[in-house]
Amino acid sequence: MSQPEQRRIVATAIPGPASTALQEQRSAELAGGLGTTMPVFVERAGGGVVVDVDGNHIIDLASGIAVTSVGAAHPEVVRRITEQAERFTHTCFLVTQYEGFVEVAAALNRLTPGDHAKKTALFTTGSEAVENAVKIARAATGRPAVVVLGHAYHGRTLLTMSMTGKNVPYKDGFGPFAPEVYRVPSPYPFRWPSGPEHAAEEALAALRETVLTQIGAHNVAAIVAEPIQGEGGFIVPPAGYLKAVQELATEHGIVFVADEIQTGFGRTGAMFACEHDGVVPDLVTTAKALAGGMPLAAVTGRAELMDSVAPGGLGGTYAGNPVACAAALGTLEVIERDGLVERAREIEARVRPRLEALQGAGSPVGEVRGRGAMLALELVRPGTTEPAPDIARAIAAHCHREGVLTLVCGTFGNVIRLLPPLVIPMDLLDEAVTVLESAVAAAR
Ligand SMILES: Cc1ncc(COP(=O)(O)O)c(C=O)c1O
Repeated sequence: MSQPEQRRIVATAIPGPASTALQEQRSAELAGGLGTTMPVFVERAGGGVVVDVDGNHIIDLASGIAVTSVGAAHPEVVRRITEQAERFTHTCFLVTQYEGFVEVAAALNRLTPGDHAKKTALFTTGSEAVENAVKIARAATGRPAVVVLGHAYHGRTLLTMSMTGKNVPYKDGFGPFAPEVYRVPSPYPFRWPSGPEHAAEEALAALRETVLTQIGAHNVAAIVAEPIQGEGGFIVPPAGYLKAVQELATEHGIVFVADEIQTGFGRTGAMFACEHDGVVPDLVTTAKALAGGMPLAAVTGRAELMDSVAPGGLGGTYAGNPVACAAALGTLEVIERDGLVERAREIEARVRPRLEALQGAGSPVGEVRGRGAMLALELVRPGTTEPAPDIARAIAAHCHREGVLTLVCGTFGNVIRLLPPLVIPMDLLDEAVTVLESAVAAAR
């Protein structure tokens, strides 16, 4: 089946009548806790476009939250999924094995930062990968504590929800939380009280105090950090911060875990975002863009750490499902063969100047930040740093009405984030940014 026409078409009001009818049924049948960004129902998707059941062609600046970097129906991924599904859909790798699992592990061992000996374990969701990275770090060190950052997002399971920094909606009413999770300030330059130039140094001082004094380094199994914080607001750490965190971890035998679930596989203009900071993590968690839309996640890291768990201690019924592994092998081939890491840099070069032009006197755009094809606008009351979530919502709603799918994120709900598929046609991307510009102008 060919890709949907790569063109924005606003055929009806968005959501249109067919989506609206389905929405009524959805509301009756589904648990209220399942939110949605844009209440349309999708008929097909691919490249840079999502087509809804009313025939609207919506420009995709979300990629299903950083998943479909190669598009939602890349022919190479579809071919491999089909071929694998015809042979077998499941055996459970813990019962009988298949080559695809080993091939994905080998690819991750090759692609993740560092040339040390590495091993990989596959899982199904990002949360599961983070949980398992902590299990591995605890088994390897014999220590209990996990240190995480403010504004972090690591998932929705008990441990990863406990590691997440935002209460509403992720944690509210869901306690008690997992013990031995300690939080240190994230060096969020735009909001650092004494100014961005002090963020790295002061955040590191707080980290040292927490690790060395409050917990005791000999009790700390892992420090877990997103190299660019995703759900928290696309927060890029100041230069030198991650490197210093890694050095502190190494000095005290603490496992440094980079959560690259949102940033991985070229999204930021490097295969992994850690590379921008010259950091080689002990363990890397991946998911999302790994398998072109199929559920697959991984922990990859130092062989001696990965081997510290006894046989049977890791795994899961669906972990490393063969169809998902086939999809991953197709996805990774496309990312490397088609130069999608460079494409992310081209996207940044094209989009960032236009986003930066939206700043200035009287503008609600307080900051433009991010890397590669992971870019964001933080919305504030003009002339202040006071968060403006209402303006962010109004901009997103304007884009949605005009057939452009944008997402809101950030601890204060005031960040518009752009996560286009890395394969999006440039003219479509330009058009989406034009719509975004008019949405910002309308919100002033
Ligand atoms: C950095 C990061 N870690 C973990 C997760 C959790 O992944 P999943 O939703 O697949 O469980 C996410 C999801 O957004 C994420 O962005």
